[in-house]
Amino acid sequence: MKIQQNISLKNYNTFGIEVFAKRFVSINAVYNLQQLLQIEKDLFLISGGSNMLLTKDIEKLVVHIDVKGISIDNENKDDVFLTVNAGENWHDFVLWCVANNYGGIENLSLIPGNVGTCPIQNIGAYGVEVKDTITKVEAIAIKTGKLVTFSNKECQFGYRNSIFKNEEKGKYIITSVSFKLTKRNHNLNTSYGAIESELSSKNSKNPTLKDISNAVIAIRKSKLPDPKEIGNSGSFFKNPVITKSLFLEIQKEYPNIPSYPVSATAIKVPAGWLIEQAGFKGKRFGNYGVHEKQALVLVNYGNATGTEIYQLAKKIQATILDQFNITLEIEVNVIC
Ligand code: EPU
Repeated sequence: MKIQQNISLKNYNTFGIEVFAKRFVSINAVYNLQQLLQIEKDLFLISGGSNMLLTKDIEKLVVHIDVKGISIDNENKDDVFLTVNAGENWHDFVLWCVANNYGGIENLSLIPGNVGTCPIQNIGAYGVEVKDTITKVEAIAIKTGKLVTFSNKECQFGYRNSIFKNEEKGKYIITSVSFKLTKRNHNLNTSYGAIESELSSKNSKNPTLKDISNAVIAIRKSKLPDPKEIGNSGSFFKNPVITKSLFLEIQKEYPNIPSYPVSATAIKVPAGWLIEQAGFKGKRFGNYGVHEKQALVLVNYGNATGTEIYQLAKKIQATILDQFNITLEIEVNVIC
């Protein structure tokens, strides 16, 4: 466990923002983290760095969670029970599951980030949310240094939400996540329009986990920028849920507005569509802008600062409020 000084975090966040950590330590074993917590508790945690926008240098000790390892806890003829350490790369884990014919997370292929952060925002894509496969989450309580287990229910998962973003925010460091995945009779989710058309173009009538994973990878590659090429953090905003009456009002003026019913009185609308209507899609402002194929994604073309991107996000929020009377909530963790 070596504490380094003045380390650039550019390669530790998928937005590729250059800020510096005054002190930085990489942790590859849970007991090292427990040792560290005996000395210092006011930490800045970074794992895959895929859901954060950094706007300034970090004064606190930056702790890079790099604990690796996958273990099979149990299995029967139908299911496998796995525990995966927090520092495992999410997409590599998905590919490993697909290769082993373990089903349940294939629709979540190519999502950036690490396993340890997947429960925090309950990652989701193409009709699947990770909460449906998580059995428990293990975390260290920062105050006591003790390991605590959260059952699926205790995680209080919601759309891009969990207890770790609410009352327990900042109180725990997730060290591992446990999953229950299927070994046969997979519950394949191909209902999402783009997956269906991708599979039918490949003539896949009885798709395998690999077919679905490949379809998702192809769709994501066609729409979402690869953080290795263009810095980004995926969807910058959440899709807002609005009242049915506001929806009907907007629909009068925009008959093609896409929507997903949430309840008898509430409707979710895609933020990407709203941002496109407001004219931001593909807009570039020097080093940063709004992605040309998915307006929900803000991008860093080069050496943009986090503050520039945050200002753009605020401008988009103000425009959407003015044009549609909808408040867009930022999904990414802005560090300012
Ligand atoms: N749309 C537009 N213009 C755009 C983007 C989208 O009109 O620029 C419209 C599309 O035509 C479609 C609708 O909005 O009718 C939905 O678009 P899409 O299927 O691309 O999904 P999304 O709602 O924009 C969500 C997730 C993504 C996830 C996709 C697929 C959120 C905040 N985002 O995006 O998650 O990959 O569904 O399931 O829920 C992420 O969280 O980082 C992420 C990429």
